[in-house]
Amino acid sequence: MALLDGNSTHQNSMISRREILRTGLLAAGAISQPASFAFSRAVDSASADSRIDVLLDEPLSAISRYIYGHFTEHLGGLIYDGVWVGENSRVPNIDGIRRRLVEELRKIKAPVIRYPGGCFADSYNWQDGVGPADKRPRRTNFWSDAESTTAPDNHKFESNRFGTNEFLHFAKLAGAAPYLAANLRSLTPESFYRWVEYCNSPAGSTTLAEMRAASGARDPFNVRFWGIGNESWGCGGNFTPQEYAAEFRRFATWVPHYGQELSLIASGPNVDDWDWTRGFFEELLRKGKDQLRSVYGLSLHHYAWNLSRGRTNDWEQGKGSALQFDPVDWYELLREGDRMETLIDKHWQIMGEYDTAHRVKLIVDEWGAWYRPGSEATPGDLLEQMPTLRDAVFSGMTLDLFNRHPAKVAMANCAQLINCLNSLYLAHEDKFCVTPVGHVFAMYAAHQDGQGIRAVFSAPEVHYDRDGQPASFWGLRGSASLSVRELTLTVVNPHVSEPRETRINLRGGRGSTVSATTLTSNDIHVHNTFDQPDALAPQTKSLQATGAALTYTFPPASVTKLSFSLM
Ligand code: AHR
Repeated sequence: MALLDGNSTHQNSMISRREILRTGLLAAGAISQPASFAFSRAVDSASADSRIDVLLDEPLSAISRYIYGHFTEHLGGLIYDGVWVGENSRVPNIDGIRRRLVEELRKIKAPVIRYPGGCFADSYNWQDGVGPADKRPRRTNFWSDAESTTAPDNHKFESNRFGTNEFLHFAKLAGAAPYLAANLRSLTPESFYRWVEYCNSPAGSTTLAEMRAASGARDPFNVRFWGIGNESWGCGGNFTPQEYAAEFRRFATWVPHYGQELSLIASGPNVDDWDWTRGFFEELLRKGKDQLRSVYGLSLHHYAWNLSRGRTNDWEQGKGSALQFDPVDWYELLREGDRMETLIDKHWQIMGEYDTAHRVKLIVDEWGAWYRPGSEATPGDLLEQMPTLRDAVFSGMTLDLFNRHPAKVAMANCAQLINCLNSLYLAHEDKFCVTPVGHVFAMYAAHQDGQGIRAVFSAPEVHYDRDGQPASFWGLRGSASLSVRELTLTVVNPHVSEPRETRINLRGGRGSTVSATTLTSNDIHVHNTFDQPDALAPQTKSLQATGAALTYTFPPASVTKLSFSLM
């Protein structure tokens, strides 16, 4: 049995199985008891092979709502079709923005949306996307060369019909804070601070404020989050970390605030590029420690893409299929995603060598699974793929991982929101569906702004055969948070076929009125389509019970949210 620490990685626990058996745990009658769920009267955990201790007296930091953030780029069918349908569309819309998408985002309490990229951001001139819509120039989209010859024109060529005002209106309708990514590769610091001026200068104060007012937005948008470039080690300019740090200083110096707190996000490392993190801070601080005050966060990007089982690191060859996979591919995807925890820990440690007070936070502004083409809901949509139950488990696992590091991760943005990679939603014209990933975000919304709570997970590991070599993966993990007296415990069982009967101990508290929401299926390939939008949907069961412990069976291949009212 592996003992897992919900606060970090593997850790031995002092709480032994014998202690489980010794501990007197309360129970009361459940009104309705699904077979898999029962508060127990006796100390009868002998049959449970797994255990979760929720340590209510061991609070972590608060879980930033921004960990539940999103990402929208002018890429494939994401903006044009996914978000923007146009005012005259037969698709229900609010001022041209897909109504259903706005409604779904409100349901999941979408806290922040990043825009306009991604790689697109460093080829984009924000001035093309403001002013009268019919006067806006048409440009070549950054992704144009990757598009197929049959792709619609508005995927290859940027009409600029959807620009700053439209995006900020969309974010406001969704109830989310906007996070704008500035172009560092091909524009100047002046262009950046003019964009800030356009968005944030007071009504009537500047020519750009008047331009904003002329297009219907008299009052400032008060945009707080600004990215300074994107992937500056690659598509954002192929800089060295030292060159980028010097550019960052230039962009970040003396940006007008207009009374609005600005949180500037530096373009951070690709996956495990420790040298980037080190080089960036080293160079930044050559101008003194005060430079740290200009950086709110360092971005980190990691996609789970290599399903080659160690055979290759080739970006094209290594990818797997979104829909055709076996249990080994399932575990490989989770292993790839699980690297995120080490990435967070190690980059954080390096950051601490320069920023001992840990003023600068990690912003994981791109994460998700990335498969090879072939599963698009709308054939031909670039980087669109079909999320399955595997991606729900991967996403639940990733969000839990962020929750366990609330002092380090200040924001995360799932790549991407709709019609692209790890999408929460798929849409084409008047067709729409919520993907398994979207359901996970809905389930996990209860963690937003909650007090992180340490939870210790102990479960048998998953063992599998990786092309003749033994391989293993953890057996059960999750995260816990507290909002007033409501405890949320989310748990992932990654095993494709084995349920995990689990003793859950609320250490330092007692719960009553529990509800369990589960996302699972007997079919690990299950996914939602326009024709079958509810092939996979969460099921909620409630029971009234009282106590400090319960036994719950987590089904195989599942994501579960348990909600407790604490007494
Ligand atoms: O999310 C797709 C692309 O992946 C983004 O544009 C880029 O930043 C990353 O490489």
